[in-house]
Formats: sequence, C-alpha cells, structure tokens
Amino acid sequence: EQQAGVPVQEIVLAEPRGFCAGVDRAIEIVERALAKFGRPIYVRHEIVHNTFVVNELKAKGAIFIEDLAEVPAGATLVFSAHGVPKAVEEEAAARGLRVFDATCPLVTKVHVEVAKLAKEGFEFIMIGHKGHPEVEGTMGQLDRGIHLVEDVADVARVQPAQTERLAVVTQTTLSVDDAAEILAAIKARFPNVREPKQQDICYATQNRQDAVKLLSREVDVVIVVGSPTSSNSNRLREVAQKLGTEAYMVDAADELRPEWIAGRTRVGLTAGASAPDVLVQEVVARLKALGAVSVRSLAGAEETVKFPLPKGLRLDADAAA
Ligand code: F3S
Repeated sequence: EQQAGVPVQEIVLAEPRGFCAGVDRAIEIVERALAKFGRPIYVRHEIVHNTFVVNELKAKGAIFIEDLAEVPAGATLVFSAHGVPKAVEEEAAARGLRVFDATCPLVTKVHVEVAKLAKEGFEFIMIGHKGHPEVEGTMGQLDRGIHLVEDVADVARVQPAQTERLAVVTQTTLSVDDAAEILAAIKARFPNVREPKQQDICYATQNRQDAVKLLSREVDVVIVVGSPTSSNSNRLREVAQKLGTEAYMVDAADELRPEWIAGRTRVGLTAGASAPDVLVQEVVARLKALGAVSVRSLAGAEETVKFPLPKGLRLDADAAA
C-alpha cells in the first residue's frame, strides 16, 4: 500500500542495453581457452572494461597482464576485445606463444581498412580518446601517418604531411553526436578527406546511445551500469546529461547512492556494452529495496549480431553446424 502523497517510483529499463556481440565473444574465448588448455590463461589487458567480468575470470584462472614480458614461454595468450598494435602481435608470434585474438571483429574491420588504405598511400586522422587501448591498437597498425584528434580544437592543430590522400577512422565506442561534429570540422578543413563507407562507430554503441536518448526523455534520473574505464558506458552517461537529465554511473549496485533517486518518480536504468546483466538485476533489486515498486522496459532496436569464435576454440557441434 502506497501512502497518500508519496509518489510511486518506477524503474524504466533502456532497450537494448548491456552486452554486445563483441563482448560476448571475447569472454567466451577466455572461458573456452581455460576449459581447453587449463589454467592459467594469460590475457593482455582487461578482456573487456568491466570489473566484475575481470574478477570472475581471474577466479577461474585468467591472469591479466599489460606487457608480454610477463607471459612465460609456451603459455596461451588472449588479446582483449579492444585490439592490439601490430608490434604486440609480432612480439607474441616471435615468442611462439599460443594466441587467441578476442579483438572485436568490428575493431578488426577498422584495422584492415587502415592497412589497405595505407598501402594506397593514405594518411589518417583518427577520432578517439588518447590512451584508450582501442586507439593504441588502431594507431599501432602503422608506424607513422596516423594522427589522433580528440575534439574540434585538435582538428585545427593536426598536421598531416599531405592532404591529397587523407582518410578518417574512428574509435568504435564514441559519442555519435560528438563524432559527427568532429568529422564536420575535419571535412571543413580537408574537403577531400575520405570517410568510411559505413561509420566505424559500431551498431551496439549506436543502439545504446539511441536507447538512452529515448530513456532520458522519460525519466528523472538515469543510472548507467558500467566500469569507470569503459568508454561506451561513459558516453551513455554523457548522452543523458547532454539532454539535461541527471545521470550517474555505477560499477556495482552498492555504489548507488540513495540520494540520487530519493523522491524521483521514474528512475532510468541502462548498462554499457561490457556490463553483465547480473549487475543490472542487482541494481534493480537495490532500487526496489530503496522503494521502487515496478519495472518496465522501453521498446528499442532488436539486436541479432553474433560473431563466430576463432578456429581452435569452436566446439565440435559448432564446427559441424
Ligand atoms: Fe565490438 Fe562495438 Fe562491442 S566494437 S566489442 S560490438 S561495443
């Protein structure tokens, strides 16, 4: 029974939210490598940027490292979903490590495009966040001729050696709106610049940002489940905030502060592409414990994308299919 005068609080879930096909595949690669070769399995960088996922895999026998020097001879190594620079691939091959590449196929697609255009004499402007492993991986496909811009101000500063053959590539998890603005500035300065046929920002990033825009208009506050290191989760929080909706990110349910939702009628909830559903369910449970009485989902794009596992980790049943 609700008291008279006390607003009923409902939880509104964004759709789609949470795991994308690239994250699903990356986690499965580590799990299958553990099942097939036994512990430990070495993983270069957090397989995906989520604290819960990384801790679970650690408990199962994964060892996360940043430098290949930490990997003993003869070990099995998995590259994270973000991709790696060419030099890392070459180092692993030179050391004879058994490697499974969990780079998202949509990141690999960008790497392939960079390699192909570089052979044709192109130089690149990459839109991305400095220091993010995906940016290091994509820029690391070439020894030179790829220039990072993080914002419109950088576009005015960038100095390619020539402007005849210039192409744009981007990180897959950018804000769609910010990327469009930066791209417009690039085109204004370099009218001949070659754009990707289909934008490099991936379907999952696009869909989750579209969903959080819808959500933001319907709720009083948005909670994003995601780790601080997760690029696409941070973008979801920003997208909501840019629409004037208060938004917070939590890595786990216990980070949710009661004052964020006190007195709010509608609490929106979404999750970054690397955040598992179990964490969303835990946040729902905590919101209910704090007084929310109902849960509903918004309608949104349906996702059917699925990526095959690398050879050598497919089950016999998959191989026959
Ligand atoms: Fe791949 Fe996009 Fe997910 S690049 S790992 S599908 S967020």
